[in-house]
Amino acid sequence: MAGVGEYEGATLTDHWVRSPVLMLKDGCLACHQKHDANVNEQQLKDRVEEIRDPHWKLRQDAMTALMGLIEDLKAARAAGKSDADLKAALYLHRQAQFYLDFIEAENSGLLPCAAGVSPHSRRIDQFLSPGPDRGA
Ligand code: HEC
Repeated sequence: MAGVGEYEGATLTDHWVRSPVLMLKDGCLACHQKHDANVNEQQLKDRVEEIRDPHWKLRQDAMTALMGLIEDLKAARAAGKSDADLKAALYLHRQAQFYLDFIEAENSGLLPCAAGVSPHSRRIDQFLSPGPDRGA
């Protein structure tokens, strides 16, 4: 949290909940400049967008795929398939739902900063392409 002042010798920090990108100078730059003295606000902002924008596209693809899977499961059940028949699909649904919920809660793509979007996109590949694990 960005320091916003001092009171009786203690540092006061910003508790205004909003996008951290709106306070790059106070919230991010001081620490990043310890690692690279030349980094500036615009570079940090550009890097955030470089990570965030593909992350959002992957999130959209994942959500579409997950909704498709849920519709397929509904149709399979309506057609008389049992949980045993759908074992692999139900297992993958639980996995996909967990990852998507995590991504939704994390809400930026920046938490796994250094890893970028790769863990997320690997999971999406698993669910988008039919394969032996999916029972397709
Ligand atoms: C306490 C220190 C600290 C603060 C505060 C901090 N960061 Fe970081 N940040 C790091 C470190 C350390 C890394 C990992 C660097 C690495 O692995 O190369 C990192 C990584 C990143 C990355 C990924 C860099 C890359 O090229 O993959 C971005 C983007 C980023 N931070 C943005 C921010 C933003 C935006 C803020 C403010 C909201 C912020 N950071 C606040 C220390 C900090």
